Amino acid sequence: MSAEKMETAAGVYDGAGPAYEGKEDALSPEDLSEVLAAGTKEVHEKAENTQFVKDFLRGRIRKELFKLGAVALYYTYTAMEEEIERNKDHPHFAPLYFPTELHRHEALARDLEYFYGPDWQSQVSCSQATQLYVDRIHQVGQEDPVLLVAHAYTRYMGDLSGGQVLRKVAQRAMKLPSTGEGLEFYQFDGIHSAKAFKQLYRSRMNELVLDMETKKRLVEEAVKAFQFNMEVFDELEVIGQTIQEDVLDAGMPVHGAMGGDVS
Ligand code: HEM
Repeated sequence: MSAEKMETAAGVYDGAGPAYEGKEDALSPEDLSEVLAAGTKEVHEKAENTQFVKDFLRGRIRKELFKLGAVALYYTYTAMEEEIERNKDHPHFAPLYFPTELHRHEALARDLEYFYGPDWQSQVSCSQATQLYVDRIHQVGQEDPVLLVAHAYTRYMGDLSGGQVLRKVAQRAMKLPSTGEGLEFYQFDGIHSAKAFKQLYRSRMNELVLDMETKKRLVEEAVKAFQFNMEVFDELEVIGQTIQEDVLDAGMPVHGAMGGDVS
């Protein structure tokens, strides 16, 4: 699906598909950006096709579930950015250290405060699937920091690729304020052009001095990172089946919009 136009509740997502942008820049198939893009193509398609993600793109977003998704992201980015800070001077990570532009921990904390109120910290906890993801990120950051590149790639490049569309879909579906409260995660204030920033990030990845074996390990780790994300989506999907809440279709009233099956 990623090489096609995709209809979403907020319009057409005109994605060329991962990694097909910037081919004109004389990239070699051995460049890390290319190895990662090619090596995660299949799992990316799987991730796009999880029920949770498909429902989200259609604007079928239950607010309680969206909030739990933000909680999962909060724990994930807290762990990832803690390990990034630990390794910011490591030669295998330093060129990818962009805290002002990328880091999401604080934006997510503000989103959670918006959704849960000032005592949000006492109301949220880390789910089982998220904990496994978090544990892996800490393990990698402490024992094998080069693999942190795979985790940063999977989340930040993905966020920069789909974030604006997802923000619009979520805002419309849940009737959130257009001023951005609750959706700060999707807003990268330090990045003017996601496309240009992704090119910079790719070129920084390609500057890392790594042998082919390490690049292959990075692909394996990125595939794992996608799988952790899918486990979190699946967990949310299961929780969603137990939540008695109205389905909020984009364009429907916020309350009382009983959702039928729109598929
Ligand atoms: C890139 C679509 C879900 C991670 C992209 C691109 C598109 C896309 C169109 C290419 C953008 C560009 O090159 O400018 C989608 C859609 C999704 C989805 C429609 C859901 C329906 C995900 C998920 C993850 C993810 C769940 C991981 C958690 C990535 C990554 C890239 C990417 C890492 C960068 C690929 C590269 O250029 O190397 N996505 N995506 N995506 N996406 Fe997704």
